[in-house]
Amino acid sequence: MESSNRSASDAADLVERSLEELGVRDAPGLEALFTQLQRLLHEELGEASQKSPDTARQEARESLRVRWLGRKQGIVRSITENWLRSAPVELKPAIGQRLNALREEAENGLKSNYRVGIADTGVYTTGSIAAQSSRPAAVDALDITLPGRRRVVGVEHPLRRAIREISEIFFSLGYSVEEGPDIESTYYNFEALNIPEDHPARDDQDTFYVDPQTVLRTHTSPVQIRTMEKQQPPVRIIVPGRAFRHDAPDATHAAMFHQVEGLAVDSNITFADLKGTLDYFLKAFFGPQVRTRFRPSFFPFTEPSAEVDISCLFCGAATGCRICKQSGWIELLGCGMVDPALYSHVHYDASKYSGFAFGMGVERLAMLKYGVQDIQLFFQGDLRFLHQFR
Ligand code: DAH
Repeated sequence: MESSNRSASDAADLVERSLEELGVRDAPGLEALFTQLQRLLHEELGEASQKSPDTARQEARESLRVRWLGRKQGIVRSITENWLRSAPVELKPAIGQRLNALREEAENGLKSNYRVGIADTGVYTTGSIAAQSSRPAAVDALDITLPGRRRVVGVEHPLRRAIREISEIFFSLGYSVEEGPDIESTYYNFEALNIPEDHPARDDQDTFYVDPQTVLRTHTSPVQIRTMEKQQPPVRIIVPGRAFRHDAPDATHAAMFHQVEGLAVDSNITFADLKGTLDYFLKAFFGPQVRTRFRPSFFPFTEPSAEVDISCLFCGAATGCRICKQSGWIELLGCGMVDPALYSHVHYDASKYSGFAFGMGVERLAMLKYGVQDIQLFFQGDLRFLHQFR
């Protein structure tokens, strides 16, 4: 409001006085004067165009029309009276020209589609979009002293990036992606994976129950069963996705996290294939210097089962450090040969086929690879963290 009053009185003040009083005697002085008027006009037009509701905008435009184009006392009229008439002959043509341009600009600016802001071209403009072609060069000129408009480009979330990097390695080995539901039946999450109702392995996975037969899946392993139900071997799939456990949050635990499951079933698949595949994957993901170690373990759905460690990325397994708990090795994922008990659930001929499976935590892999100390950072949406993955 304030600036509108000030500029209005400035413009009106200017045209009340003669050129002589204003000290304008030559073409450059005239140019500066008209440019100043033009700027004032655009300021006022801009302010009017931002009024709402529509009726207020209409009113503001109407009073601008009277102020600038009014027949008796309008600014344009006053220029004719106070500047043009008494001007030295040699300045008259230039005054007439600039005056016409100003009138035209006021008329165009008062049309309803006047906008201040970003034209369709994405170029910042303070002029009438309709009047662009008729606007004098001084207004069209790009003001290179204005700061540029910064466009914030998003970044891939580090977990998405990890999943992409994992997937690309397995794609190169001929695997494809399968997905399954986050809300899963206890049959797929437990029974079909050889974890019966009273099995102690269920206790390991503090589960969110939706109802007694429905859970938020505690791992991505149920998609092994869902996939084998749909197709006969050969199967080579990975399953990236969310998993849920009733874990208290700390630097390495979250109630929602991500896993990538893997499953390969075919004729003549052996433990050597499992070792070779995971060794290849871990070297491709973490770097060729990484060594792998398979330790016997237990999972209900694999037999035999193993835990895979990699040589510590931080001390190189040489000295031992805080991260590998002085052991030189970092525990990474679970795997094993698919327990033939699973095949009976999906009508695979266990005498013809064999396979291996593995499951890994995406957060864990991402934390190790990207040097993230706290799992919670992945879920807080803090731009200071996320921008570091540019
Ligand atoms: N589902 C297991 C977990 O969440 C991980 C796992 C271990 C998956 C061994 C497998 C596997 O496919 O063979 O702890």
